[in-house]
Amino acid sequence: MTKFPERVFSGVQPTGNLHLGNYLGAITKFVDLQKNYECLYCVVDLHAITVAQDPAKLTSNIREVTAAFIAAGIDPETNIIFNQSQVAEHTELAWVFNCVARMGWLNRMTQFKEKAGKDRENASVGLYAYPALMAADILVYRATHVPVGEDQKQHLELARDIAQKFNNDFSKSIQDHGFGDVFFPLPEPLIQGPATRVMSLRDGAKKMSKSDVSDNSRLNLSDDADVIAQKVRKAKTDSEALPSEIEGLGSRPEADNLVGIFAALNEQSKAEVLRDFGGANFSTFKSALVDLAVAKLGPIGTKMRELQTDQAYIDDILRRGADRARVHAQATMSSVKDILGFVR
Ligand code: TYM
Repeated sequence: MTKFPERVFSGVQPTGNLHLGNYLGAITKFVDLQKNYECLYCVVDLHAITVAQDPAKLTSNIREVTAAFIAAGIDPETNIIFNQSQVAEHTELAWVFNCVARMGWLNRMTQFKEKAGKDRENASVGLYAYPALMAADILVYRATHVPVGEDQKQHLELARDIAQKFNNDFSKSIQDHGFGDVFFPLPEPLIQGPATRVMSLRDGAKKMSKSDVSDNSRLNLSDDADVIAQKVRKAKTDSEALPSEIEGLGSRPEADNLVGIFAALNEQSKAEVLRDFGGANFSTFKSALVDLAVAKLGPIGTKMRELQTDQAYIDDILRRGADRARVHAQATMSSVKDILGFVR
């Protein structure tokens, strides 16, 4: 079996309101992984335009996500930080994958159903084909590991199916061109820790999301200390004290969510948090959570604001990142063209 060099790829959409879910579910993992892996982190602007975007806002959102990556601790020199539209090979490979993926596979994607809602006829073709572009993002670098939150699991499974089908459909050509027995790795999702699915602060049954109309439903990375404190204090809870054991969180989604957030921010397990706070009422626990959230998120927000005042610096990081990413992407695309039988 072909052994692929280990490589990490992940992406974040520049759609504004970057929040605690994005941070705990994805960005903190990006920071950890850079210690042991070669990593590419992408601001996926081509994904953002699958729904309507205001061009001026999109530009500033691209810079905001880039600033968040750097402020959170990703080193843009040892890793590659870039925006997707600067490396044309993403869309080129996405077309090939549109021809590999089956309609039946895409029809099963729950995120499309949620985002398109009742007015499916009016959704963009891009929104429907989005998972094939996401597979291309990962596989154009032949990445092996993909840190994401729980909500991206189904898309990752689709990326694996696409990689597998490409390897099977073209196995003879892959071998004939000397690429071994398979060309694409089956990328592994990394979905770990106590905050892979951070829920809304207003409703423990709903995911924390950029598009929730209530700003109180989420902690934005750009929120200052006062706003963080207000939102945590207003967060929905039940009236009981915290349990001492994990099992006690079972039917208490809001409590479970806040304990998960505390655990992730403090780099602990939920069981450890409950060991310290079991029996405490929510006002005590929320005070501790406010202190922790302000201590962890406050400096990131400050750094983000500072970085965003220097657009030339951010744009230079993105440009240099894209130049480095393109080298890998072009090599993959040349091989893919040979495998498909294109003349080049
Ligand atoms: P996006 O921009 O919606 O979210 C970015 C990352 O944040 C995670 N996330 C969450 N994690 C925990 N709790 C939440 N409430 C929460 N909300 C969001 C997401 O799982 C994601 O990891 N399709 C992707 C972007 C993408 C991508 C890729 C990711 C495009 N190409 C290739 C990995 C590899 C998306 O829309 O993420």
